Amino acid sequence: MNLMELMYNRRSIRRYKPDMLSDDTLYELVKAAVSAPSAGNVQPWEFIIIKERDIKIALAKAAYNQMFIAEAPVIIVVCANLLEASRAYGERGVNLYCIQDTAAAIENMLLYAFSKGIGSCWIGAFSEKTVEKILSLPEFIRPVALIPLGYPAETPEKPVRKSLNSVIHFNSFRVK
Ligand SMILES: Cc1cc2nc3c(=O)[nH]c(=O)nc-3n(C[C@H](O)[C@H](O)[C@H](O)COP(=O)(O)O)c2cc1C
Repeated sequence: MNLMELMYNRRSIRRYKPDMLSDDTLYELVKAAVSAPSAGNVQPWEFIIIKERDIKIALAKAAYNQMFIAEAPVIIVVCANLLEASRAYGERGVNLYCIQDTAAAIENMLLYAFSKGIGSCWIGAFSEKTVEKILSLPEFIRPVALIPLGYPAETPEKPVRKSLNSVIHFNSFRVK
C-alpha cells in the first residue's frame, strides 16, 4: 500500500489476537513515533510499554472500563514531558506544542503499525489522575494517549468522513 492507501485504510481496532508483538517490533513502532516532527525538535515525548496483565486491566478500568484495551497484548502509553516543553516554549509549549508533538508521534505509530498488519486504537478517554497513579508518573509527565496494539481479530468498516467540500475553505473561513 502506498501512503495514501495506508492513511485511508487504517482503522481503529478493538479486538486483538493474543499473539505478543516482538520487542524488535515495539522498538520499530517507537522509532516510527519519534520520526514525527516536533516544535523546535524538542521531542517532548515518552513511551511506556505495558505487557503486564494487571497493569493493562488497571489502565482499561482507568479508561472508563473500556475493557477491550486489556485484551491487547501490549499497550503503549504516550506521554508528554511538560518540563522539556516548558523549558523550550513556556506556556505555549506545555498547552499546545507538546500535545501536537505527541499527536504527530501517535499517528506515525498507528500508520506504521497498520503497515505491518498490527491493529491499534488511539484511546483518549481516561482519567489522567488514575493513569498517573498506576504508572507512578511524576507531575511533569502527562499521559496523552493509551495505544493498545495487537494483531487484529476484526475488520471494521470505515466510519464515514465529512465531505472535503464541507471542511475546505478558500481564502477565508466561511460557515457552511
Ligand atoms: C484523540 C482521540 C481520542 C480517542 N479516544 C478513543 C477512546 O477513548 N476509545 C475508543 O474506542 N476510540 C477512541 N478514539 C478512536 C476514534 O473513535 C476513531 O479514530 C474514530 O471513530 C474514527 O475511526 P477510525 O480510527 O477507524 O478511522 C480516539 C481517537 C482520537 C484521535
